[in-house]
Amino acid sequence: MRAGTLRLLYEIEHRLPFNIVPSDVPDKDLVEVIEGEGVLPGRALDLGCGNCRNAIYLARQGWEVTGVELIGHALAAARRKTAAAGVSVNLVRGDASRLSDYPVGTGYSLIVDACCYHAIAAERRDDYAAEVTKAAAPGALMLMVAFAEQNTPGMNVTEEDLRNRFTGWELLQAAPMAPEELVQYFDGPKLAKKTLTNGRYRAWRYRLRRLPDAA
Ligand SMILES: C[S@@+](CC[C@H](N)C(=O)[O-])C[C@H]1O[C@@H](n2cnc3c(N)ncnc32)[C@H](O)[C@@H]1O
Repeated sequence: MRAGTLRLLYEIEHRLPFNIVPSDVPDKDLVEVIEGEGVLPGRALDLGCGNCRNAIYLARQGWEVTGVELIGHALAAARRKTAAAGVSVNLVRGDASRLSDYPVGTGYSLIVDACCYHAIAAERRDDYAAEVTKAAAPGALMLMVAFAEQNTPGMNVTEEDLRNRFTGWELLQAAPMAPEELVQYFDGPKLAKKTLTNGRYRAWRYRLRRLPDAA
């Protein structure tokens, strides 16, 4: 599916009253990393930040966070949630595959992508990888959650896809996520949430490390 068509679909999807929306629960993997031994706060970039559930968690842990979000409706929710949480997150409306077009900057030691990359059209994924590589500091860690199977044809994310596109990165971990975990990260009508556990979507989590000499 083309990027313009996808954007229109996301604009509509975000406004549907029966749609599922991100919950306030931060990703388990992110919490494990951040609260792990020897991890000091730095600069984090949350791509497709949605309502900022992960960005808010990071800001509370002392990280300086930038959240990038394509859809204005989601960004408005992010502004409400960050204000209610009393944390500061630098929110940027933009396309994660065009980061250089916005005041995002570089030098991020942590990149979070929870269900954004799998929403990027195949034709924009090389640009996404190049832009993220530019924004990341050497040795940066990227935590990604992506669907290995979803409704939209040609959008599935595989280990091979990541290895081929993220050439300046090392894939440290790839593991399937249990539907019971995925469902915690969304709120919404029971019936809509069922789509997350009925096997139609298969989420995987990935950890990637930017190689120190990546261009
Ligand atoms: C399933 S939501 C997840 C939101 C958030 N990361 C979370 O886990 O709670 C995916 C988000 O990615 C955003 N998104 C999709 N394509 C994007 C793009 N090209 N650039 C930035 N954000 C994008 C969507 O608008 C949506 O808010």
